[in-house]
Amino acid sequence: MDFRFTEEQLMIQDVARRIAQEKIAPSAEHHDQTGEFPLENIRTLGENGLMGIEVPAEYGGAGMDPISYVLAMIEIAEADCAHSTIVSVNNSLFCNGILKFGTEAQKQKYVRAIAEGKEIGAFALTEPQSGSDATAMRCKAVKQADGSFVINGKKSWITSGPVAKYIILFAVTDPSKGAKGITAFMVDTAKPGFHRGKTEPKLGIRASATCEIEFQDYVATADEVVGQEGEGFKIAMGVLDAGRIGIASQAVGLAKAAYKAAVAYVKERKSFGQPIGSFQMIQAKIADMKCRLDAAEILTLRAAWAKAEADKTGGRFSTEASVAKLTASEAAMFITHQALQIHGGMGYSKEMPLERYFRDAKITEIYEGTSEIQRLVIARNETGLR
Ligand code: CAA
Ligand code: FAD
Repeated sequence: MDFRFTEEQLMIQDVARRIAQEKIAPSAEHHDQTGEFPLENIRTLGENGLMGIEVPAEYGGAGMDPISYVLAMIEIAEADCAHSTIVSVNNSLFCNGILKFGTEAQKQKYVRAIAEGKEIGAFALTEPQSGSDATAMRCKAVKQADGSFVINGKKSWITSGPVAKYIILFAVTDPSKGAKGITAFMVDTAKPGFHRGKTEPKLGIRASATCEIEFQDYVATADEVVGQEGEGFKIAMGVLDAGRIGIASQAVGLAKAAYKAAVAYVKERKSFGQPIGSFQMIQAKIADMKCRLDAAEILTLRAAWAKAEADKTGGRFSTEASVAKLTASEAAMFITHQALQIHGGMGYSKEMPLERYFRDAKITEIYEGTSEIQRLVIARNETGLR
């Protein structure tokens, strides 16, 4: 057991911190208010290896480990949660998915531009009628005599859908087989038959663009199948295990921003002739926030360590990832709520970032599996019961 980071890990943390503080934090409010997609900042992150942190250098990435990914994500999310959503999907859902399950040709063809941040990747599992119950999807891919597939159907809530070049798509290839009848495909959004809906207006992470996408007789060739036919659901779940570490890191970064603002404010704001931080009720809030923040951070780093081990052995880290995501997202909700309360009326004002932190925190309890689904995964894995 060693709580120190390596030189390489500290180096990428430093690069992420510099870009986060110099470029992302100053523009966060603008992006929140306008909902404008932060393309220029994403390009800068890409040029510095942060859109493909765990991607080996031969495919255009930084070649770092899962702990480095967590450290960089925390820095980016501390500056702005919406930016970290785009970074997380690009890194842990798209790049990680293709690296883990794609062929060598797919890695060569699709990963480089996405890892370098020149193009943006997305992941399409959810449909209008199926979110938590992902196997209830209806988007259909029908195999043709030449081995290609004709795809028809809708996917909803697709992060980076409005701007993505490539998307990992999950569709039903054999409706009689349930989870074993789902297949993963690589979609090129420039091909005919791919359509985007309007960008969704959202409570928080407003600069992360989200939309519905639709396939109308879209043709995926045989070499655009990712993994084996019928293995799509396991691929989705395996990729989401990594994704949930990204969302846990995002929640930790956001919670840190709110916590630091609260600690500064309780020392400076006076009430009844003394700093509010000298009241025991406020001190209890600071202590409770600190405990939850540290627990979330340590559990997220543990999940990253478990992923690094699993990358070597081929094992799973589902429980560690779900424990981290559940703890960190609930910590982010608690901490952003308490930090806003500590700021009183100013917490409610758009002149301070507290109300944005509070709005942004909620999504971490919903996407990549709601808190109820994380509890279900953890309890099923712990008990073996269903
Ligand atoms: N790794 C590998 N295989 C896995 C797995 C994992 N983590 N989890 C399940 N599987 C396998 C199972 O072993 C099973 O295979 P066998 O039949 O061969 O044993 C198969 O997958 C089916 O598993 P379940 O029976 O457990 O499936 P289920 O229908 O009960 O669903 C669930 C399980 C956990 C609820 C799952 O549907 C789930 O995670 N739902 C949430 C969906 C979700 O997280 N969506 C996120 C969309 S992306 C996103 O949100 C991005 C973003 O916002 C930024
Ligand atoms: P439902 O599944 O309809 O759930 C409704 C409620 O019922 C929830 O509280 C849920 O926890 C609860 N519930 C459901 N089943 C159970 C159960 N078995 N036990 C207990 N409670 C249960 N999806 C993608 O594929 N790609 C993306 O890039 C993506 N990005 C997103 C970005 C945003 C901003 C949002 C809001 C969503 C995104 N999603 C994406 C979809 C997201 O993953 C789903 O919204 C999420 O998984 C929940 O599904 P649902 O919205 O259909 O809710």
